[in-house]
Amino acid sequence: MRRAIFLMLWFGVCVSGVTAQKTMVAQETTSLPKKTTDPDWWKHAVFYEIYPRSFADSNGDGIGDLKGITSKLDYLKNLGVDAIWITPCFPSPQVDFGYDVSNYENIDPMYGTLADFDELAAEAKKRNIHIILDFVVNHTSDQHPWFLDSKSSRTSAHRDWYIWRDGKAPGEPPNNWVSTFGGSAWKFDPVTNQYYYHYFYPEQPDLNWRNPAVQKAMFDVTRWWYKRGVSGFRLDAVDILFEDPSLRDNPITGPGVNAFGDPIEQNKYNTKLPEVHNVLRGLRKIADEYDAVLIGETWTADIAELNQYYGKNNNELQLPMDFLFTKVDKLSPAEFRKQIAAVNSASGWPTFVISNHDIPRSYDRYGDGQHNDEIAKLMAALYLTLRGTPILYYGEEIGMKTPPPTRKQDVKDPIGRTGWPKEKGRDGERTPMQWNDTENAGFTTGIPWLAVPSTYKTHNVADEANDPGSILRFYQQLLKLRHSNQALLMGSYKAINEHNDNVLSYLRVMGNHGIVVALNMSGDPQKIRLELRRNGFASAKVLVSSGHSALVANNLSLAPFGVFIGELSK
Ligand code: GLC
Ligand code: CA
Repeated sequence: MRRAIFLMLWFGVCVSGVTAQKTMVAQETTSLPKKTTDPDWWKHAVFYEIYPRSFADSNGDGIGDLKGITSKLDYLKNLGVDAIWITPCFPSPQVDFGYDVSNYENIDPMYGTLADFDELAAEAKKRNIHIILDFVVNHTSDQHPWFLDSKSSRTSAHRDWYIWRDGKAPGEPPNNWVSTFGGSAWKFDPVTNQYYYHYFYPEQPDLNWRNPAVQKAMFDVTRWWYKRGVSGFRLDAVDILFEDPSLRDNPITGPGVNAFGDPIEQNKYNTKLPEVHNVLRGLRKIADEYDAVLIGETWTADIAELNQYYGKNNNELQLPMDFLFTKVDKLSPAEFRKQIAAVNSASGWPTFVISNHDIPRSYDRYGDGQHNDEIAKLMAALYLTLRGTPILYYGEEIGMKTPPPTRKQDVKDPIGRTGWPKEKGRDGERTPMQWNDTENAGFTTGIPWLAVPSTYKTHNVADEANDPGSILRFYQQLLKLRHSNQALLMGSYKAINEHNDNVLSYLRVMGNHGIVVALNMSGDPQKIRLELRRNGFASAKVLVSSGHSALVANNLSLAPFGVFIGELSK
C-alpha cells in the first residue's frame, strides 16, 4: 500500500580450506591514492541519511537535534561514513515533519540554531564528512511568508509564486487531480475565491516553477547554503515540479479507490513533465561551482527514465536515486541480477538505496523471522559492494525494525491517520536510533517523540560494537574494505553463475585486481563452483564473510544466507 502511494511520485592457484566462522576480515592489499581535491568525491563516498528528529537528542525534549548529530560524528566516522544527508531541519510547522518549510535559510529552533549548524559543519569537516541538506523544491509550508503574501490578495507580489486557479464551477475544484496524501489536490481559499494546488498536504502549497522569480529565489537558497559549507542537496520530490498549464484531468486507471478513498489516477499531467530538466540543469550549474552533488528523489519507472535525470550530457543530477531495489521485495537472485544489470547499463553512476524515511526498513522487508540478522548482513554485503554510491539509512547498520503503530491514536504521521488502517503511515521507519540498552535506548533523557522499539535491548550501537558477530561490526568491516579496495570502489561489475537461483554472485574488476562476492539468498546451505577462470582469474582468498563458508579450489560452500567476499588473483 505504501509503495502504491509513492509509486505515483515516482533498485588458479587454489586457496584451500579457507574457512570463516561468523564474520571475519583479512588484510586488504590494494589501496587508493589520496587526493586533495576530487570533483568526483561523491562516487567514492558512502552517504548516510539522518532523520534528525530521531537520531540523538541533546537537550532532553524528546526530539533529536543538530547538537545530537554533532555528538555522534565520531561514531559515523568509525562506521565509515563520508557524507551525511540530513532530512529537513529548517523552520517548519512540522505538519509533514519538516517537509513543510517556512524559511529555507535558517534552522528550526527545535533542532538548534544556525550557530549549531556551523559547529556541526566545522566538526564534520575536521573528520572529512560532507554535509548534504534536503531541499524541498516542490512546495513550501502554507506558513512561509511567500505563501502568506500570495494568499493575501489576487494582486499581491507573490500571488504568482504558487498555483492559483478558479474552480470549474461553484464548489468544484479546477480539475480531478488528487493529492498523494489524500483528497483533492486543490484547496479553496475564501479570501480570494480561488483554489491553490498542493500535491501533498494542503499545508504544502506547490510553488509555481514557471515563474522566473521562484526559480531565482530557490537557486539563491542553494548558493546561500553552499557558502555555509554544504556539499550538496537531496532534492525532494523533484519529479513533480511542473504541471500541465491547461490542467487537463488525469486519466482514471482502475476501478475502486485507494487507502484514502480517492479514485486511482495516473499522474499523467502533474508529474515528470519535461520542463523539470531545465531546472535541474540550472541547479547543477550552480552545484558545479562548488563541487557539490545533487541527489534526486526520482521515482523512475525504468532506466530510460533514470537516464533523463542524469541529463543528456551528464549535466543534471549526479545521483538520481532510482528506487529499483526498494521494489524488490523478496530475496531473489534473479530479480536483483536483473535490477543491477539494468542500473549498470544506465548513462550515469548508480546509487543504491535499500530503505529510507518513507519505506519500511530492509530488516522487515527481507527478514524471514528466523535469520533476520544474517539477512541484514547479506543485504549490507549487496549494496555496499556494488558499483555505485550507497546511501545508508540510519539504523540499518544495527538491524533496526519497522514497528508500525498498533493503535490509530498513537500515529504521528498524518497519512497514517487519514489512511488508517490500510495506510498506517511512516512512523515505523522513523523510530529513535538505538544507541544502547538503557531507557529509551540512550536516544533521549526525556520522553521520545516516537516510541522506541523493544528490540533496542538486543540491537543497539553499544552492544553491537562489542560483539564481533554483530551487524554493526559487519558494516564497519565492509565499509573499511570498500574504502581501501580500488576494485570494489571503481571496478566494473560482472555477473557470474547467472543461472543460479539461490546464490547471487559477481565480480568487481579493475585492471589486474578483482573481488568476488557471493551471497546465499536462501535458507539452505549452498555449494557453487565460482566461474573464475573464464573471467581471467585463478583463485580467491577470503576478505570478509558471514556464516560458515569454505572455499576449496573454486568450490564455495555457503551457510544459509551466508556471505563470501574474496580477493581474486591471476
Ligand atoms: C518526499 C519525502 C517525504 C515527504 C514528501 C513531501 O517524498 O521523502 O517524506 O512527505 O516528499 O515533501
Ligand atoms: Ca532535542
